[in-house]
Amino acid sequence: MPAQPYYVTTPIYYVNDRPHIGHCYTTVVADVAARFARLLGRDVFFLTGTDEHAEKVVSTARERGLTPRQWADANAEQFRRAFRLMGVAESDFMRTSEDRHKTRASAYIRRLMDSGDVYLGDYVGWFDASQEEYLTETVAKEHGFKSPVTGKPLEKRTEKNYFFRLSRYEDRLRAHFDAHPEFVLPEARRNEVLGRLRQGLNDVPVSRAVKEGDADWGILMPGDPGHRVYVWIEALCNYLTAVDEPERRRYWPPAVHVMAKDILWFHAVIWPAMLMALGEALPGTVYAHAYFVAEGRKMSKSLGNFIEIDLLEAYGRRYSIDAVRWYLATQGPLGATDADFAHARFVEVYNADLANGIGNCASRVGNMIEKYFGGSVPAPASRDDFQAADGMGGLQEFDWEHSAVAAVEAARSFETSFAFDVALRGAIGLIGRVDSFINVTRPFALAKSMATDAGAARDLGTILYQCAEAIRIASLLLYPAMPAKMASLWRAWSCSPLKDPDDPDSGFGAPLAELAAWGGAWSLRPGRRIAKGEPLFMRADAAEPAPTA
Ligand code: MSP
Repeated sequence: MPAQPYYVTTPIYYVNDRPHIGHCYTTVVADVAARFARLLGRDVFFLTGTDEHAEKVVSTARERGLTPRQWADANAEQFRRAFRLMGVAESDFMRTSEDRHKTRASAYIRRLMDSGDVYLGDYVGWFDASQEEYLTETVAKEHGFKSPVTGKPLEKRTEKNYFFRLSRYEDRLRAHFDAHPEFVLPEARRNEVLGRLRQGLNDVPVSRAVKEGDADWGILMPGDPGHRVYVWIEALCNYLTAVDEPERRRYWPPAVHVMAKDILWFHAVIWPAMLMALGEALPGTVYAHAYFVAEGRKMSKSLGNFIEIDLLEAYGRRYSIDAVRWYLATQGPLGATDADFAHARFVEVYNADLANGIGNCASRVGNMIEKYFGGSVPAPASRDDFQAADGMGGLQEFDWEHSAVAAVEAARSFETSFAFDVALRGAIGLIGRVDSFINVTRPFALAKSMATDAGAARDLGTILYQCAEAIRIASLLLYPAMPAKMASLWRAWSCSPLKDPDDPDSGFGAPLAELAAWGGAWSLRPGRRIAKGEPLFMRADAAEPAPTA
């Protein structure tokens, strides 16, 4: 059976911005999802990219004496570089200024015009130039006719405009929400969208007039060079333009569109209605996480407290990029509430989960195998022999096979709930159990009588085998958040499930259910070498000042 496709997307980011923790967070979340899906044996396509046709790109380029193309090229490169630094392995990076996007997006708009879903009308409204969006009268008034985001005055604009007949899809959208409770997640966000949907839908403008002296930047309305397609509308199309070719068509529809709550309406209502009008299948889930704040304060241009890529890079240099990914993936605002990027918390989580968690546990077990078995994986005794052994009080509590199955189940549940943080924490929980298993079974005590007592040697081997195998299974589940570190552990332990052990992005030799089978074909083989190696994570000193960019 061919692997089931799994398509995951991030928003395409405004190319005018500098990459910061918000962009990195969403992209890392999508990357973790893509890696989980690959691990589960799915055929994955992961898209990110940049949204380039905003008016601001033209004006900033002009200020800098560049063409919009030069400015966009330089900045798109910054985003690519930022994501590379974060260990993200996207399948494709879409730039909306690329021809493939422009041609296809324009064809979709043409289809919508032909079907009467897009029509020419009059528009009077309040335009927030800093955000490239129109606000309704109510919202504009609420904010004193200033941008709710930047505080800059709104402009009243009357224009001939093309409109998308959103109102036509109100009933079908509601029915879709009813039939698919997982369509918008988390649930709190779903309820907000539903509430707004119940107030009814107005048609939305999808173009703006081309003015004299405008740069040739953006997509013209098909058949009307006097209007340009509104950036938001063509930007949404990127999800489809990226896969609208024969060898990629199988990826449609997306399993999940990931973004923050700020742009949920576009993704949960306008985009699905456009897809309905185009006769395309709808995405499985539109997932809107909350925001990262910095040291307890909302990030803003005026406070100048954006955590930019340079600072994340500095954290990566000191603690490793995988540690940064771990913090983002497990402490981030995946649910409905905002989360804090705080240095003290970072160090605490780093030490607890990584240095004293997986890192220490793996080196502890590796060292014992080295010391007592010359570095080769000991053979486990049969279960009955082992459980009959003396002095093993409490051992029966550790049903490793069952724990392993439960951990894999947790990983699988991410496909429906997107709660991969549960699987990641479950894996760290498994590591915690290995530590308490060692404390209960006291392998170092057994080692003392090993020379004279064959039973002790057998029990010791069995204990260490079990520890190592449990760590191996936990490491599979930790991989999506920490691909480079887990790949290096697998190399040291001669148990890499990767197609190319030196390349964390090379894919897996089998799906997780097989890889994680206790004692199965991919398990640790008695006799194989386990190299002690460097500890995966050095302990962090909480007193050391935070890294600086
Ligand atoms: N270009 C549009 C999206 C078009 S998608 C068809 C856009 N771009 S953006 O650069 O402003 O990116 C917004 C997204 O960046 C958010 O939805 C979220 O994914 C991410 N984040 C920006 N700031 C964030 C935080 N403070 N915290 C978490 N993520 C945030 O909107």
